[in-house]
Amino acid sequence: QPRQTATAEQPPQPSPSQDAIGRQPARKRVVSDFDFGRTLGEGSYSTVVEATERATGRVYAAKILDKRHIIKEKKIKYVNIERDILQALHHPFVVRLHYAFQDSQSLYFILDLAPNGELLAWIRKLGGLAEACARFYLAEIITAVEYMHAERTLHRDIKPENILLGSNMHILVTDFGTAKMFKKDEPDQRAYSFVGTAEYVSPELLTDKAADCNSDLWAIGCIAFQLLTGRPPFKGSNEYQTFQKVLKLDYAFPPGVPPHARDLVERILVLDPASRLGSTQRGGLRELRAHPFFRGLEWHGLPAQTPPPMA
Ligand code: ADE
Repeated sequence: QPRQTATAEQPPQPSPSQDAIGRQPARKRVVSDFDFGRTLGEGSYSTVVEATERATGRVYAAKILDKRHIIKEKKIKYVNIERDILQALHHPFVVRLHYAFQDSQSLYFILDLAPNGELLAWIRKLGGLAEACARFYLAEIITAVEYMHAERTLHRDIKPENILLGSNMHILVTDFGTAKMFKKDEPDQRAYSFVGTAEYVSPELLTDKAADCNSDLWAIGCIAFQLLTGRPPFKGSNEYQTFQKVLKLDYAFPPGVPPHARDLVERILVLDPASRLGSTQRGGLRELRAHPFFRGLEWHGLPAQTPPPMA
């Protein structure tokens, strides 16, 4: 007699490991679940390689961190912060952490693969993006940062190297190793450690040694300039010279930048953080959406749109 009829009277009982809607908890992955392939990138504490999950054939990016090096350099806290923040963030424009595990030597973060590499490489190759392209990618970056800020998270190192492009050419923001996530009831939503990259560092981080949402906004202004011109606005021959330029707001547009684009950058790159277009005090990044540079851009449903071709 068929098994179905024997059990039809009784609803199926969840096995002890199932949740209320019958899902099995995700099994902890181990190194041998993956085949590791070519190297995608190398950082000071990690190597990123392609990793194929054997059971599914799915291809990911594995960020592999050497435990001895991390312990020696006292970075354990930051690695845990990065994992916790990645685990907390779920957005189509933020790189997703699928699994985290370790063996005796290394920590492994299994992330979304971004097959089209860093936005920086595209900007360099093309010497800046066409206006429609710059508009689209800047809108995606603003959308991603707006989401992070809504989740009480400062990225603190937003730059074209940390903006990857997925298979569909939409952005994936990565590298939360220097990010800061505030607790819900934390009254002071400023961060007091010095982190970031000289070319995108805000003047207030240099003068007050504190960063907040308006400092991520400054980096967005720098990236807007770079998308349009091919180079960051503030770049000295060394870090100190770069900082001097930032503090003096010493930058200039090359000829040919469209007036609305120029106006947007000029309203973001303002020394007083509260006076920037899109500052927290002015109601946040949503203010940027109304700027004429974005006229015609459909802000709703960006992840489902087809990005304008790069070239
Ligand atoms: N380099 C660093 N992270 C990466 C990722 N997630 N995909 C592709 N290349 C990367």
